[in-house]
Amino acid sequence: MKSQNNYTRTKLLNVQSQMVRLLPNLILLGCGITLGIIISFYLQNRNFSFEFTRFSISSSSSSPSSSSSRIFTPLPIFQRPQTETPNIPASKSKSNSSSMEEYLKPPVVMHDMDEDELLWRASMSPRIPDYPFQRVPKVAFLFLTKGPVHLAPLWELFFKGHEGYYSIYVHSNPSYNGSDPESKVFRGRRIPSKEVEWGNINLMEAEQRLLANALLDISNQRFVLLSESCIPLFNFSTVYTYLMNSKQNYVMAFDDPSSVGRGRYRSRMLPQVSLRQWRKGSQWFEMDRNLALEVVSDRVYFPIFQKYCNDDCYADEHYLPTFVSIKFYEGNSNRSLTWVDWSKGGPHPTQFESEEVTPELLERLRNNRCKYNGEDGETNVCFLFARKFSPFSLSKLLDVAPGVMHFSNAQLQEDLNDFDWSNTLRKLK
Ligand SMILES: *[C@@H]1O[C@H](CO)[C@@H](O)[C@H](O)[C@H]1NC(C)=O
Ligand SMILES: *[C@@H]1O[C@H](CO)[C@@H](O)[C@H](O)[C@H]1NC(C)=O
Ligand SMILES: *[C@@H]1O[C@H](CO)[C@@H](O)[C@H](O)[C@H]1NC(C)=O
Ligand SMILES: *[C@@H]1O[C@H](CO)[C@@H](O)[C@H](O)[C@H]1NC(C)=O
Repeated sequence: MKSQNNYTRTKLLNVQSQMVRLLPNLILLGCGITLGIIISFYLQNRNFSFEFTRFSISSSSSSPSSSSSRIFTPLPIFQRPQTETPNIPASKSKSNSSSMEEYLKPPVVMHDMDEDELLWRASMSPRIPDYPFQRVPKVAFLFLTKGPVHLAPLWELFFKGHEGYYSIYVHSNPSYNGSDPESKVFRGRRIPSKEVEWGNINLMEAEQRLLANALLDISNQRFVLLSESCIPLFNFSTVYTYLMNSKQNYVMAFDDPSSVGRGRYRSRMLPQVSLRQWRKGSQWFEMDRNLALEVVSDRVYFPIFQKYCNDDCYADEHYLPTFVSIKFYEGNSNRSLTWVDWSKGGPHPTQFESEEVTPELLERLRNNRCKYNGEDGETNVCFLFARKFSPFSLSKLLDVAPGVMHFSNAQLQEDLNDFDWSNTLRKLK
């Protein structure tokens, strides 16, 4: 018994002493492995940065503007963008070893994500402020429509020659099953849509859906909501420069003490939303990417509106103005860039018919005085868009607008001849 114990003890001692002898070797082995890992990591990183360098060189050398700054350098206001050719990042890269290229490709507009998946994906945002590629910021034009974009031929003239600087998204009523009859720039731009009713919270959901789809394209920097009855008031260069140089958002917000303002407040929204914070405004917003990210990510205020802002509450006139005024009032101009005529009263604004569309009307809408970027003094470019224009005013608009708005004149007659908009008109009548 005793000898067995002794035997066990000697064996243990042996093992221990062997361990002690092996220890330096083990330490050495550990060091070797660690060193190996460090070296391989270092080499991988070098490979990575090498690829990135090559990537950014090839993408910037393909750009005609090749400005030294990689992020957007503000253009002087009211000048056309410096580059005429689109500069979609690295789309022409010869090697496909870089997955950056895949990542930066604007996703297909018709996707099969459900609402939760879409909003979640759209809420992603990089935390490194500089882009490791040449990013040409785009304006996302979000069309919230019932059916077709009636005034598409006018928009077509507006967009012509500015490819690469804009993206278009259309949310139309799902019951509209027209086969994209409008025109080239709108073709294939319909996003998966749901039913929308005037004054209902689902209107806000549609606006979020439009924003979310547009956020999936990393190049979209400014986001403007429009409808089928909206028209531009200036040419593309002016609109683009005005928006890209803007340091502000354009979400109209004001305190309306009347029954159609504060009267629509619901006290069940307390404590998150108080009557003092309740705001009203036109739904026709224009905002930058940061605010768009906040709107699709809001999990505090939007659910409250979904729950309590129904039955004569008109969430589309109150949710954004209230949300932005509570959380992001800094940087909001509190005004809209879309002109609407409420002068005749009633629940709906004036709709302009063909005979009312004159150069004088358009000039009047183009010349208003407003503050820009909170600077001292005013500019005379106050509204960039206007509504509501009847589908039947299209041919008059095509007649009058391009001249008044300084669309690129040289191309104009050619464009008009090329257009088969007679088809659109025939269908309307
Ligand atoms: C690019 O991808 C294709 C298939 O997708 C492959 O055949 C080709 O070898 C790849 N080229 C490079 C440079 O990786
Ligand atoms: C559109 O829907 C209607 C019924 O809602 C149907 O009669 C019509 O054939 C559809 N048109 C197309 C182009 O799918
Ligand atoms: C917009 O309104 C908010 C109050 O809701 C105010 O704090 C802010 O200064 C206003 N901004 C401008 C530019 O007037
Ligand atoms: C755009 O319109 C402005 C005036 O609003 C004009 O000065 C400019 O020349 C126009 N740009 C083009 C490309 O026609």
